[in-house]
Amino acid sequence: MEQRRKQEGHLKAPGNWINDPNGFIFYKGKYHLFYQYFPYAPIWGTMHWGHAVSEDLVSWEHVGIALFPTKEGDQNGCFSGSAVEQDGRMVLFYTGVHYHAADPENIHLCPDDQFDSCQMRIDSEDGMHFDNFGGKRVVIPPIGDRRCGDRTHTRDPKVWRGRNGWYMVLGSRSEDGKGKLLFYRSEDLETWSYVNEAGKGDGWGWMWECPDYFETDGGQALVFSPMRFLKDGKWEENQAICMAVNFEEENCRMQLPDTWQYLDYGLDLYAPQSTVDEEGRRVLIAWLRMPRAVEQEEAVPWRGMFCLPRVVEMKEGHIYFRVHPHVKKRYCRPLSDVKEAGEEGYRIGLFLEEGGCVDVGGYRITRRGNRVCTDRSHVFCREENYRTVFETPFVKEGNRLDIYVDDHMVEVYVNDGEYVISNAVYGMSRELRISGGREVELFGYC
Ligand code: FRU
Repeated sequence: MEQRRKQEGHLKAPGNWINDPNGFIFYKGKYHLFYQYFPYAPIWGTMHWGHAVSEDLVSWEHVGIALFPTKEGDQNGCFSGSAVEQDGRMVLFYTGVHYHAADPENIHLCPDDQFDSCQMRIDSEDGMHFDNFGGKRVVIPPIGDRRCGDRTHTRDPKVWRGRNGWYMVLGSRSEDGKGKLLFYRSEDLETWSYVNEAGKGDGWGWMWECPDYFETDGGQALVFSPMRFLKDGKWEENQAICMAVNFEEENCRMQLPDTWQYLDYGLDLYAPQSTVDEEGRRVLIAWLRMPRAVEQEEAVPWRGMFCLPRVVEMKEGHIYFRVHPHVKKRYCRPLSDVKEAGEEGYRIGLFLEEGGCVDVGGYRITRRGNRVCTDRSHVFCREENYRTVFETPFVKEGNRLDIYVDDHMVEVYVNDGEYVISNAVYGMSRELRISGGREVELFGYC
């Protein structure tokens, strides 16, 4: 069955299932974005790395499967990881998982979390070819000492070049079941030594997935996805958060404050990953969790997509997520009606007065008490674990909204990324009604 190789704007699963972005890198003049991929059905299963390439972060091409299980260490999946460039080669780090026993009714699952995790490396000369049989090596075996980290739940290596060597941060959990980070250091990307850990104690989740640390002009930032962080037990409890931190490279000491932000107040985005773009901007992308697959007439169903790439900036300890300028530039075809928009969707720009409302085909965006609120209850499937109404914290800087509308995702950028709400949606109509809006602009994709 036909799968969609080329995609504009939002990157979607080429068919079946995707989750986290992996190995995001600008390498030899192109952006490479890998992703957690189960190629056989629109559900999570044995993880492969799918691979997409773009010249501008806007037009993407799916180029196939880069990594798949071949070794004892990764026989049950190639979990999330990252990419760096060394002497012209692309070097990928990821977590290999090995189940002690698989579920006899679905061999892609492991009952009772009985599995080992190790950190693996594979190189590529050109970023397109990966020798899955001859090119993989274990760089950090499953952790044997419970006091250091968890043999099962230690994963998602994010590697970066520091001032004084290479560094890796891993998500893990402590002996008494609290999420934490592990830091390793290497001279050559081959031999890694454990240096330090960092955590927050009670109330911050039992395992921290997909950590990402980086520096911006405004300070150092940490992004991670603690599991069981939202504690009301009703909605999706695993949430991506971010915060300003203090990191000392010499001893890998990281201080984490008590103040934090959600990465996105739509609470659908998870497991973000960042890289540096061709002009040195920090750019981040994240997975949109979708409760159901999208059925297509002449192709396999797909489930999972990514938000638009966002430039991350920090000002006075606040982290901003702004639409990447390449993307913004492409939504430039003035429309007089949203029905004129193509399948890449459209952008609405406006100032929204207190009490005002933008109804995007049944998805409602309002401003109340200087918070931006969204309600998808009319454009969503009834899934118990998913919530339907969302709001930003109190908005400080104005009332400008930039709304990117796609058939399955709406992204609402408040004041150029002071806060963002992104939501998965199903069955929106091509209609737009606005009350209390000023200087409304409407642009299609060009
Ligand atoms: C986050 C995550 C990662 C893991 C991957 C497996 O969504 O659970 O921690 O590496 O997905 O697909």
